[in-house]
Amino acid sequence: MATSDERLEQLERMRSEALLGGGPVRIERQHTFGKLTARERLDLLLDPGSFVELDAFVMHRATGFDMDRQHVLGDGVVTGHGTIDGRLVFVFSQDFTVFGGSLSEAYAEKICKIMDLAMKVGAPVVGLNDSGGARIQEGVASLGGYADIFLRNVLASGVVPQVSVIMGPCAGGAVYSPAMTDFTIMVQGTSYMFVTGPNVVKTVTHEEVDSEYLGGAATHTTISGVAHLAAADEATAMDHVRRILGHLPQNNLGEPPRLVSTDPPDRRDVELDHVVPDDPQKPYDMHEVIRHVADDGDFLEIQPGWAPNILIGFSRLAGRSVGIVAQQPAFLAGALDIDASIKAARFVRTCDCFNVPLVTFVDVPGFLPGVGQEHGGIIKHGAKLLYAYCEATVPKLTVITRKAYGGAYDVMSSKHIRGDMNFAWPTAEIAVMGAAGAVNIIFKDQIARATDPAAEQRRLVAEYEAEFNNPYVAAARGYIDDVIAPSETRPRLIRALEMLADKRDTNPRKKHGNIPL
Ligand code: HXC
Repeated sequence: MATSDERLEQLERMRSEALLGGGPVRIERQHTFGKLTARERLDLLLDPGSFVELDAFVMHRATGFDMDRQHVLGDGVVTGHGTIDGRLVFVFSQDFTVFGGSLSEAYAEKICKIMDLAMKVGAPVVGLNDSGGARIQEGVASLGGYADIFLRNVLASGVVPQVSVIMGPCAGGAVYSPAMTDFTIMVQGTSYMFVTGPNVVKTVTHEEVDSEYLGGAATHTTISGVAHLAAADEATAMDHVRRILGHLPQNNLGEPPRLVSTDPPDRRDVELDHVVPDDPQKPYDMHEVIRHVADDGDFLEIQPGWAPNILIGFSRLAGRSVGIVAQQPAFLAGALDIDASIKAARFVRTCDCFNVPLVTFVDVPGFLPGVGQEHGGIIKHGAKLLYAYCEATVPKLTVITRKAYGGAYDVMSSKHIRGDMNFAWPTAEIAVMGAAGAVNIIFKDQIARATDPAAEQRRLVAEYEAEFNNPYVAAARGYIDDVIAPSETRPRLIRALEMLADKRDTNPRKKHGNIPL
């Protein structure tokens, strides 16, 4: 019979063994590839000393292929909970040193356990992904394990924030777990995501491509839009996670944390008065507007490299977290195209399900024309953004800085779709279309008959601009709550947010809506 001391020694031995994962050689190999181990990553992510591990003694149950002689404590994934900035978070960190981080039935059960706990107590889940996919030796039990995780990703969606960091391979059906989480962050150079890898692609389509181009961080943050942020290294990736979670509540029933801001809430910024150029065709950088308005100019931009004609991200106003959606006139004149619509629609829904108020800066000439856009389905993709704004019940503040033309005026958080407080700058042009286009249609004959058609067109454009291209026609109808000097934007938004702090709005009871996908 073992003594108590011997039993304690055994516990310590097993704990130390579990810490080593797949052993020193494989840890060394991981480091050689510029990657940290599963535990080192958790140290970077979580507040020091806050990690509490669960299921460190779980082992796989496979028997064939010599598996009964290869057991590693923890079985390739480190799971548990800890804190980020003092707030509870559940984590799993896939351990590439154990069977290439591949997923077994027991491994999936560990992830499901922390996801269930996160749902029970209402706390975010952060998944650190570095895995060879389904554990080949486990066959369908592994596939079932993935499906168990997918189901939980969906059930947790909109209940607790879910963030995925891709820090190595993530291939095959395994990509669908990160894809269903709220944010995906990829580490440059060491991570990739694809449904079928370069070899299969070559066999099927004869395209020669490497993993990096097929599914690396640059690809997914600029071409596909699958990932939200690319990080130069693993530490930066963890920083992104911490910052994103800092803007979100613990769950859908909570509010985002409010910080104390030293940036005065009544700060007027006269530089804003001259951001919009006098020439309406001239671009400007909407980042400038955001920076001048937000607390300390801070803007955590999400998906900066994809669909740059629209900007999305988090800022704070008087310490309150807000989700910003803003046209970027410096790219494609800020027109709404397929990618921009999808990007903004998803973000609006993310903010709405986690009670983050929306602030929308509008300078939109309309939807991007073109065969490619029409054939690509701009109708249904544009509808996503319209649907998302209509459906959102969080406080919705809108500032029209310049153009708000056509259908895009309606889409961009207009009063008509439950915008709570809609402001316009004096430079706003709210109309069915730009003056030149409008005049060429409604005065076509008059211009053609004129002795000097060009002069007549210029005269009519000036007349139209004076009459319609201003915010006052909309303000006269109450579609715009106030026309404000650009310099007043920050204090006015903050006052509006305060007024709306207890806003309660609901949608009709239904199983769920049918957003055009
Ligand atoms: C079991 C695996 C494994 C797997 C890797 N290993 N993948 N063990 N099942 N899927 C093991 C290797 O045997 C090796 O063990 C160790 O992990 C490291 O693998 P290496 O190949 O030496 O590493 P590297 O050269 O870095 O290549 C990594 C890799 C490659 C690109 C991930 O291992 C690979 O292609 N693996 C197979 C990937 C795959 O096809 N998975 C199934 C996809 S289908 P030792 O003992 O030598 O350390 C899928 C479906 C999901 O995932 C379905 C969800 C619905």
